[in-house]
Amino acid sequence: MTGLVVAMDGPSGSGKSSVSRGVARALGLRYLDTGAMYRAMTWWMLQQGVDLADPAAIAARCGEPRIDSGTDPDGPAIHVDGVDVAGSIREADVTGAVSAVAAVPEVRTRLVARQREIIGAGDIVVEGRDIGTIVCPGATVKVYLTASAEARARRRNAELAGSTVEAQQADMARRDNLDSTRKTDPLSMADGAVELDTTALSLEEVIAEVLSLVKERT
Ligand code: C5P
Repeated sequence: MTGLVVAMDGPSGSGKSSVSRGVARALGLRYLDTGAMYRAMTWWMLQQGVDLADPAAIAARCGEPRIDSGTDPDGPAIHVDGVDVAGSIREADVTGAVSAVAAVPEVRTRLVARQREIIGAGDIVVEGRDIGTIVCPGATVKVYLTASAEARARRRNAELAGSTVEAQQADMARRDNLDSTRKTDPLSMADGAVELDTTALSLEEVIAEVLSLVKERT
């Protein structure tokens, strides 16, 4: 890997997507949303009627769908076997099931390989839970974004109609717990990562912080 890679990890609602896209736009880099790939795999499993309470069933089928992710920060495309799933993967059924699918080691092996192919020679901002630890430990800059549980739920709630902040907070706590305690590649801060607490910062301030980290290291 020769080009620049910015690894952006952290729990849901910490601002990863907005910050990653802003940084990619500012620097003319590509952008990869790895969470969208786990969501796309989950969408496919639900379509197929795979029993998501059965990790062996998930493992047995996860090699079948072809998952393609675009890298345009202004509108990253995501396709499963050629079907555009950008809208469907944000539905509540997928959000409710994704952490169970993402905990299956065979799913991770397959999607991490695909992510490394897309990252290729770099010049990309990559967001997820295991980018600095597993997918790209040699990333130029590793950022670990955090925010208070309440701030994260509030932000997510603003994106989703028909939900309450309390319901969001409960759902995020459940997902964070699954994501941080799973055996394979749990959410954790990578060696050499810079932790940024975004609770009291505006989006522009966080983007500016990350841009200055990139400048320091390049
Ligand atoms: O980022 P987003 O909330 O869309 O991610 C959805 C889920 O995908 C996460 O809750 C986590 O279970 C899983 N994920 C993961 N590893 C990544 C990105 C996402 O396990 N690199």
